[in-house]
Amino acid sequence: MVKVGIVGVGTVGEAVVKNILKNREIIKSRAGKEIKIVKGVVRDLNKKRDINIPLTTNYKEVTQNPEIDIVVELMGGVDKAYEVVKDALLHKKAVVTANKALLAYHRFELQKIAKTPFEYEASVAGGIPIIKALRDGLSANHILEIKGIINGTCNYILTEMKKGRDYNEVLKEAQNKGYAEADPTFDVGGFDAAHKLLILASIAYNIDAKPEDILIEGIENINLTDIEFAKEFGYEIKLLGIAKKISNEIELRVHPTLIKKNEMISKVDGVMNAVSVVGDIVGETMYYGPGAGGDATSSAVISDIIEIARGNKNPMLGYKIPLEIEKVSLKEIDE
Ligand code: NAP
Ligand code: HSE
Repeated sequence: MVKVGIVGVGTVGEAVVKNILKNREIIKSRAGKEIKIVKGVVRDLNKKRDINIPLTTNYKEVTQNPEIDIVVELMGGVDKAYEVVKDALLHKKAVVTANKALLAYHRFELQKIAKTPFEYEASVAGGIPIIKALRDGLSANHILEIKGIINGTCNYILTEMKKGRDYNEVLKEAQNKGYAEADPTFDVGGFDAAHKLLILASIAYNIDAKPEDILIEGIENINLTDIEFAKEFGYEIKLLGIAKKISNEIELRVHPTLIKKNEMISKVDGVMNAVSVVGDIVGETMYYGPGAGGDATSSAVISDIIEIARGNKNPMLGYKIPLEIEKVSLKEIDE
């Protein structure tokens, strides 16, 4: 049996607990062992929850618990989450996280500490297995471009606004559906998409850029008139994250973009995400699926738990970042 502790039992954490129980048999057959969640960490022990696991407010009861094999960090935020993940790794726990903000700032550093598996499939594009696709499936390629809709909340808002609906009303709806970040400014300000873009770029190019280094523009200033005009001229407005290799430089940017209606990505609506990755050998590949929400995200989190339980990763080595994939630097963009 593999024993798991979850730090953060909110939208995603609850879905992980429920779906591990729901698909217990198939998960067991794929992992080769039963997976049991033995403890959860929350802020408020009195909150009403739909799940039944022992809860604590002290994360060390999970990260330093000799019975626990895998620590799953689903609390969000950067500083406290960093403390939790670092403590878990130092106590030789395998770690799974969905926390893109944490990874955008500290992935390289945490990966260096990790002597145990450290996985984060759910951190980009919710239920789409884009990390495994980029890291494993496309590993024979130089990556020439990554371009995608990687924030479900913004895509949901822009889609609903096409129907004439009010921005604030739709944002509230996205929050109620569990799509938005605890602070939705991260979504609508483009920062969440930037965190995800940086994770993808760090895998594709081994580049350790920070959100402050790149161009980020959100959707707060898009109004119904913009959407109407775009439509009249045959375009859709989508918030895109773009990473482009231009000789030895990488251009990284997040901003609302006009996309021609005949392009596949323009048809991606609602909470769905889509990522196009161009490799020098394979050409363009495209990944599509639900980008946010408890169930979709839990699918990716559980896949990481299964992979670790199966023992595909050498627990003594973890997943090391290759020292030098390509010599690239960040391109400065003239605004
Ligand atoms: P959430 O609903 O706000 O849940 C956060 C959980 O963490 C809650 O259980 C909360 O406790 C607990 N928590 C927060 N700060 C804590 C602290 N200092 N000490 C102990 N417990 C603490 O968030 P979520 O939507 O599940 O997101 C979790 C993570 O997954 C975030 O990193 C997010 O970016 C990422 N993610 C989310 C989605 C999504 O669609 N929601 C998709 C992909 C990735 P209480 O319950 O007591 O408040
Ligand atoms: N808030 C994020 C989004 C959650 O809307 O895409 C998924 O990472």
